Amino acid sequence: MKTAIVYYSLNGNTEQTANKIAEKIGADLIPVRPVKAYPDTGFAKLFWGGKSVVMGEKPKLQPYTFEADKYDLIIFGSPVWANTIAPPLRTFIVENLTSLKGKTFAGITCFTAAGGDKALDKLKGYLGIDTLVAELLLADPKDKPDPANDKKIEEFCEKLENYNSMIKYRKAEITDLDSVYELVTSAIEEMEREGIHQWDNVYPAKADLKADIESGTLTVGMADGDIAVIYVISKDHDEQYKNGRWKFHDSDFRVIHRLCVSPKYQHRGLAKQTLSHIEDHLRNIGVDSIRLDVFTENPYALKLYRNNGYTEVGHADWRKGRFLLMEKRI
Ligand SMILES: Cc1cc2nc3c(=O)[nH]c(=O)nc-3n(C[C@H](O)[C@H](O)[C@H](O)COP(=O)(O)O)c2cc1C
Repeated sequence: MKTAIVYYSLNGNTEQTANKIAEKIGADLIPVRPVKAYPDTGFAKLFWGGKSVVMGEKPKLQPYTFEADKYDLIIFGSPVWANTIAPPLRTFIVENLTSLKGKTFAGITCFTAAGGDKALDKLKGYLGIDTLVAELLLADPKDKPDPANDKKIEEFCEKLENYNSMIKYRKAEITDLDSVYELVTSAIEEMEREGIHQWDNVYPAKADLKADIESGTLTVGMADGDIAVIYVISKDHDEQYKNGRWKFHDSDFRVIHRLCVSPKYQHRGLAKQTLSHIEDHLRNIGVDSIRLDVFTENPYALKLYRNNGYTEVGHADWRKGRFLLMEKRI
């Protein structure tokens, strides 16, 4: 997915910053320009700009193209005007509020003396969000060049790049079914090539995955618009789980099923990353322990769970062979 930088600039400080960042991270630039330009010098600049803020104006904008679907991350840039963002950027947010829902945001403000924090707080308020993935506050960077500003830009871009390389987890939707099934099929082929005969066309069947999606228990981890990993979290478990000598008997537990990394993304630590994500998520919602079963002929899965604190509490014998029952207190 691409990144957009939507910005307004009266005297070029925000614009220069936006250009530098776009060049570094390869983002699309979307300048916002009011139909009626504000005066850009002297007393008139402060008077008319200040009045526009105080009056809560939403100045009409010149035509622009913004296809929200193309972007996952949107960076907003604005000069600080009377401790908030400049009115033209506010018009843009108001005009696009619906299509901005569910996106991730970062913020840039340029100021002369102070007010950057307050302006970013206002930006969050207009967007209806609590956090920005990265914030950049610069004192008149074009008018007062300072190497410290380049360092701040560098750090800001690093945060954005870290965000972009992260796996984004979300609940699977029914429109994901074909891609999820394709991922599972290709993972089965890969396992077969490695002599791991754990899954086949009987299980997990497309109908199983459809049921997972419909019950809201299947999560997909996205990377670059691709489904890179899937997993199911539920309370469901096979009857043979009764064979387990579960240590945390009375705990509120969940079971991980069908954790599967797309072959395209294997051997990069994605299973471990996803396991940590699952544990963090379940811990946050007050779950005490995790249970799962792992195929004894799958060395990757055994290593993953053993190295991450899962202990063996018994076994189950199913159609494909022996599976270990494991659990972890989180
Ligand atoms: C109407 C108006 C109000 C401003 N209010 C503030 C302010 O509250 N705090 C501040 O430090 N700078 C303030 N400034 C200065 C600008 O934020 C600063 O010069 C900024 O770097 C300009 O960015 P630009 O070149 O992208 O327009 C204001 C400027 C204007 C025109």
